Amino acid sequence: MDIKQLCRNLLTKKSPDELLTTSKKSELKKTLNVFDLIVIGIGAVVGTGIFTIIGTAIQGGPEGAGAGPAIIISMFLAVIACVFSALCYSEIAAMLPVAGSAYTYTYATMGEFMAWMVGWILMLEYAIGNITVACAWTGYLTQFLKGFSHILPSFVTNFPIWLRYDYRAVAMLCDKNGWDMHDKVPYLFNTIPLSVNLPAIFIVLVLTLLLIKGVKESTRFASIMVGVNMFMILSFIVVGAFYVKPENWTPFAPNGFEGIFMGAFLIFFAYIGFDAISTTAEETENPQRDLPVAIIGTLVICTLLYVCVALVLTGIVPLGSIDIQAPIAHAMRAIGKDWFAGLISIGALCALTSVLLIYQLGTTRILYAMSRDRFLPKSLRLIHKKFRTPHVLTWISGLIVIVCALFMDLNISAELCNFGTFTSFIIICIAVLMLRKSDPDRERPFKVPFCPWFPIFGIIACGGLMLYSFKSLKTSSIYFPLWLLIGVLIYAAYGYGQKRLEEQKKIKMQIKREKIKSV
Ligand code: ALA
Repeated sequence: MDIKQLCRNLLTKKSPDELLTTSKKSELKKTLNVFDLIVIGIGAVVGTGIFTIIGTAIQGGPEGAGAGPAIIISMFLAVIACVFSALCYSEIAAMLPVAGSAYTYTYATMGEFMAWMVGWILMLEYAIGNITVACAWTGYLTQFLKGFSHILPSFVTNFPIWLRYDYRAVAMLCDKNGWDMHDKVPYLFNTIPLSVNLPAIFIVLVLTLLLIKGVKESTRFASIMVGVNMFMILSFIVVGAFYVKPENWTPFAPNGFEGIFMGAFLIFFAYIGFDAISTTAEETENPQRDLPVAIIGTLVICTLLYVCVALVLTGIVPLGSIDIQAPIAHAMRAIGKDWFAGLISIGALCALTSVLLIYQLGTTRILYAMSRDRFLPKSLRLIHKKFRTPHVLTWISGLIVIVCALFMDLNISAELCNFGTFTSFIIICIAVLMLRKSDPDRERPFKVPFCPWFPIFGIIACGGLMLYSFKSLKTSSIYFPLWLLIGVLIYAAYGYGQKRLEEQKKIKMQIKREKIKSV
């Protein structure tokens, strides 16, 4: 096949009109106002980032330096990267209010190959991101159970580490504490170490079964979760503020700019999810006004909360003693408030469960859209006869998390998720610039101000943080290109051929129709 034809095929686009016609068929009611949108935003955003990852972002991990109390500067850097991309998301979402988020937008602007790759990258954000959330869930469950040490047996309140972590994480823990692996982990046939994150697998299995039965996402459910979250976080800030020792804030930036940038890269995870707001463009009463207000509003509220949490956390626990599995609950334990640590753990478990649920739904939806576009086999879209849900895809999205949780820990999966999300943000910024050129007259209910500068700033901010972290994070900087390569191979082996078959079918149908007309 000649190269020109190959390029033409890779760049085949779905026309925006075609997308809009599809979306109009499913007329949705325009009922959401700014308040609803902010509730959705906070519900999707507040979770592992602030309840767990903040620990590593402050303290540093095995592959990256921590920001220390300067995490508050990292938070501002991360939010700047989000704001520009968020505005770009809003412009496209309001202009093309169709399901599928970045995947669909890319199909309309950059063609088939990039659309597949974005869908594949979105799996990093949703499915791999869920590993992070599931691992954090284990951390808070452990903290919660510790609160019952007077009542429950010790194998429940302090269950063995080989049932709480993947093998890699246990090896690092043993190394750090000078423990002998053979004392801590059972070996199969004396050679294969057995170590699994059992609670993470359990919660993913439960949610998979629940999703197959059909759990309805609703703003009411989201507002209850958001209420619980906000209450717990605000109580932490208020109670903890009385125990802050300002001397704990020095040194403010123990690892200088390196730590601050690495902190910004890691804490970016805490902001992921606001794109959920832009996907409701079709159901928003006044998208031009409400979308940007809700997106910026969510980011401002979260940043204020996050900064307060960071100040209190670093103010009450000396640097070096901050827990990296459940830092907020552990901080309360450190000041002798065990009962409050238990409450925080319940709040965190609720928040993490809702994020897990939303993300697993997201994974299934994107896979569904990709399968409908023939990038994945049709058999995967099978709908359950009784529950009317895409059960095969729901199982697949659950199994991806379970299998990957066997060898990925919270930090690696969060780093990969961040790499994926940064990439999709950059692509969205580019898509805005391209659509402004290729389709300038289409109605845009919301327009990014100061275009092309804001999208360009988005590309620079996201690209900068991503490239900066790439050189330090050895494991994920190998896994990320590997993930992309696997994506290219799957497309070459399956999707590309299927798309050509689809084209041939369309041509044959067209010829048939013309023949019938002429008769
Ligand atoms: N922002 C979401 C969280 O922190 C992904 O869990």
